[in-house]
Order: sequence, then C-alpha cells, then structure tokens
Amino acid sequence: MGAIPQNVIDDIRQRADIVRVISEYIPLKKAGANFKALCPFHEEKTPSFNVNTAKQIFHCFGCQEGGNAISFVMKYENVSFPEAVRVLAANMGIEIESRDAKADGEIERIYSALKAASEFFRARLEEAPETAPAREYMKKRNIDPQLAGLFGLGWAPDEWEALTGHLLKKGFELKTIEKAGLCKPSSKGNAIDRFRGRLIFPICNAGGKPIAFAGRVLDESRKDAPKYLNSPETPVYSKSRVLYGLHLAQQAARRADSLIIVEGYMDVIALRAAGVENTVAVAGVAFTPRQAEAIKRTCENAVILFDTDEAGIKAAQKSIPVLLDQGLKVKALSLPGAKDPDEFIGANGPEKFGELAKHAPAFAEFVIDTVLAKADLNDIGSKTEAAREVIPFLKKIKDGIERSQYAQLLAERARIDPKVIEKEVNRSIPQQGAPAGPRGAEQKTSARSLAEKILIRILLDRPEYLDSYASALAPDDFSNKEYMEIFRLILLAREREVRTISEIVDMAGSEGLGGQLAGISVEKDLFDEEKIEKVAQDCVNRIKYSPQTRKNSLQALSEAAERRDSESFKKAEKKYIESRPDKL
Ligand code: CTP
Ligand code: MN
Repeated sequence: MGAIPQNVIDDIRQRADIVRVISEYIPLKKAGANFKALCPFHEEKTPSFNVNTAKQIFHCFGCQEGGNAISFVMKYENVSFPEAVRVLAANMGIEIESRDAKADGEIERIYSALKAASEFFRARLEEAPETAPAREYMKKRNIDPQLAGLFGLGWAPDEWEALTGHLLKKGFELKTIEKAGLCKPSSKGNAIDRFRGRLIFPICNAGGKPIAFAGRVLDESRKDAPKYLNSPETPVYSKSRVLYGLHLAQQAARRADSLIIVEGYMDVIALRAAGVENTVAVAGVAFTPRQAEAIKRTCENAVILFDTDEAGIKAAQKSIPVLLDQGLKVKALSLPGAKDPDEFIGANGPEKFGELAKHAPAFAEFVIDTVLAKADLNDIGSKTEAAREVIPFLKKIKDGIERSQYAQLLAERARIDPKVIEKEVNRSIPQQGAPAGPRGAEQKTSARSLAEKILIRILLDRPEYLDSYASALAPDDFSNKEYMEIFRLILLAREREVRTISEIVDMAGSEGLGGQLAGISVEKDLFDEEKIEKVAQDCVNRIKYSPQTRKNSLQALSEAAERRDSESFKKAEKKYIESRPDKL
C-alpha cells in the first residue's frame, strides 16, 4: 500500500470528530459538555470511559486507556496508525490518493478475489455432494455447522481448476487470482488451483477479511502431501504478522485482558467449541514481534499454550522473550497427558481445561519446569547446563523481589546453592528504580513527581505559560521518566507549532505515553486563574531544587569551565543558583 501523504493525515485528523468516531463503535451518553460510556477496553459496570469534546480526546479512569480519535480506532480495531487513518478516511468518505494508485487498485482486487474464493469454498462445503468426506471429518472432530460457519470453513474440490475457473467467470483476471495465491502455474504451463481436495480454513485479518487460506488433507492415503497447505506470502498476507482467529478472539480477550496462544487451527476451534473465546493460533511459525504487537494492542496478558512435544516446548520458550519485549505479562502452560489443547479438551472436558488455564504459571516457572525436566539432576554438568539455560529468562523479570524468588525456586529444584544462582541472575541487570507499573500506576508519588505532574497538567492546558518556563526547565530536570518524555513532547510541539492535545497525543507515538498524556490532561482542573501562576512557579522551583539537579548543574559548570565555554558556563551557573534550596 502506498504511504498516506502528510496533508491527508492532517486533514483527516482535523475532520475526525472524536464523538462521531467513537459513537460508530460504542454508545456514548451525554454528560454535561462531554460524553461517557462503558469502557470497551476493560470490563466494567459503571461508565468510567470519558470523551472530552473540547480536547478531542478520550480517557478511561478505570483502565487508564486514553488517546485521540486515531488512537481509539487503532486500539479498537487493532490496527496500525496508517490503517487507522484509512479506516477513518473511509468512514468520512475521504479518498486517499495513494502515490501508487494502480497498486492500490490491485490490492482491492486481491481482497475481493479472496472474498469470492472464501464464498466459493463455503458453498462447496454446504452444497456439493463430493464434500461427504469433509462433513464426516468435521463430525469426527466435533465441528458443528454453526462453528464451521463462524470460522468460515470450506471445501476445495479435488479438481484442477474449479476455483480458478469460477473466479475467471466472475471477471477476475488471472493475474489477480495468481497474486492472491489462489492458483499457480502447472508443469504444463496453465494455471491450476493451489488448494485441491482439502478442508479450507480461511485466515483473516483483525477486521475479519480473508487474506489467505490453509487447507488440510483429509485423505490419509495422501502420505506424500503435507497435512496443511498454506497460501504463499502475497501483497495482503504476511505470515509473520497474522494470528489465526484474532478477529474472533478480540472482544473476549479485551474483556479478560488476556489472550491464549496455541499452535494449531484446530486448537482454536476446539477451544471455541468448549466456550473459550480468547484464543489465537500462531499457525506453526516462530512467534514474531509483529504478532506480539498485535496482542499488546488487545490486552496485557498472554498465555502460551503450545503442544506438549519437544518442538512445542522449544517454540514456547522462544516466544517468551518476544512477548516480554512488548511489555506483555506472560504465562505458559503445558497440558499434561495430551499432545495439544484440542486433544486435552477432548479427553478431559472444558472444566478441567479452565481450571488449568486459570492457574497457568508465570513464564519463569514454566521455563524452570520444562528445562529441568529434560536435565539429569544427578549429573553436575547437565544440572549446570540447565541452570545456565534458565537464568537468561529469570533476568527478564523486572521486579527484583519476584526475580529473587524465582532464583530461589530454580536453586531448590536443581539443588544448587541459592546464593550462587541469585548472584548469577542479578549479574549485569541494569539497576532499575521502582518497576514501571501498568501505565505508571505504581509510580512513587513523591512531592517532586507530583510537582512535575501538576506542571505538565498546567502546561497542557495553558501553553502560554510555556513561554516563561520553556527556557527555565530542561527535560532532564524531571525525575519521573514519563513526565520527562511528556515535557520533551510539549517543547517539541511548541517548536512545531502544534497546539492541540489531540495532536500531541499523535506525536507521542508510543501508545502508553499518549494514553498517559491524555489521562493527565483530562484530570479535573481545580486551580483558579489567579493562583495558577503561583502554583506553576512553585512546581518549577520544586523541580529545579533537587540534589540531582544541583549535582548535574555543578558538573555542567565545571565542564564548561574546562572547555573555557563562557556561554555554557553562564547557563550552568544560572541553573545552579536557581537550584539552591533557599530559592524555594
Ligand atoms: N502447520 C502447517 N503446515 C503443516 C503442519 C502444520 O502450517 N504441514 C501449522 C498449522 O497452522 C497447524 C499448526 O501448524 O494448525 C499445528 O500443527 P498440527 O498440530 O499438526 O495441526 P492441528 O491444527 O493441531 O491439526 P490436527 O488437530 O488436525 O492435527
Ligand atoms: Mn495440533
């Protein structure tokens, strides 16, 4: 897809009224000048989701989610920034003229060929007599017609060009059919269907549009054929981005704030049949950062539930850091006595599964268990190797107290001196302050950081104060990392003459920061106009007087002196004097 020109983005941003945008998705109730709703991003009974019309932002006091119209669409539809802009444009009837209009037309044609193919496969499953083996198979696997309909299952007839012929007749060009991955050239040079004699699983994007297919052989005699055949990479399908079933899992995952990740298509379907809706499959590939991003846009918790064979356990272990790096909380589970979740539910029923899933251990325990299970604990070499394999995972635990407990667990289970394990686990872990809690919720609220927040609050609302303080304060003066970033943004916005909070939220880029910014800016403003100047000045003093600031400015002072840089020296000197406690 071509890039969206900046002026179009700006136009859409200006014209997308947040109330209109959000009310396309959820019912909004008027509350004074603003609007309220039940938050779509977490479960609640009384509305704490607020839409501020003047500021064009939303914020939920319950889950701290927040942002502007574009970030709402990103979050709700689980799409990237350009995709969200396209959604908004489509809703507003704005045509995005791509720099590569011809290519865009092609994408549309590919989508519609895929849709027609999906309908063709479905119709064949429902109507044609040769699908008897498919129906039998589905019965055997407990897939009833309703479930088959939900997942759009279909049947690819065992013919050379049933689909290709059908699509050509409908007016699609051969070129499009080929680019959609639906046919391929045969040895004779003509085009033949890619999927033949297979049960079809459509693979959809987060919006539920089919973008690829997987076909399973049913005929056990076809030993040479792969069990599953998948679409190739196409302009609309990239294996490394897709999570199978995400469009069906999203709502439940948001409600539960948790998504279960399995390996197979059939696992997703079996879990759904058992009433577990928040499940997606990685479809047999290594887990990628793009997939982790898609999860992070949906919820905060991921439960890895891969097959119990060695390959599944290895894949689970490899996925853990990818998910952690996106800031997700990760648990992992291996189901006893079954090769995969589908088989486990078949043998033990949904209740038993629910119980196990509810008590899924944190990733660290999973790693300790699975690594030690294949080690020989009577052999020092094997034990050492196992411990060395586990330790990098334990280093990933942010909370020092938690980290120490898992180090002890590893020591106990492997019967190694806990002091030694702890020392190894803590070796070269960057010293962190308090761990960044969910959206900074557990932030220490020292007077200093409170002052930083209040000042930010004032500056967001009354940018004119910035003129007095922009030169007095530097981002480095802020002790709280997030407020520091927000202040940096405020300065940048001033430089670029960006004035509205909604636009600053866009500049924030990282979702968390934008949300925090929106959150601060909708806090109730209790200051009256007369006192506000004094409050702002107090905050600035409080921020500037800190031992750290003093130390920094002293250092700058001496460095400037060394360099004989009188201008920097004067600046540093001013800062140093201002940071003296008697100025407070
Ligand atoms: N897979 C694939 N190609 C294959 C085999 C597997 O793409 N030749 C992917 C599929 O996404 C599959 C997943 O790996 O769903 C897990 O494989 P497997 O456990 O063999 O399949 P299931 O979905 O569990 O199917 P079934 O229960 O019918 O064996
Ligand atoms: Mn399986």
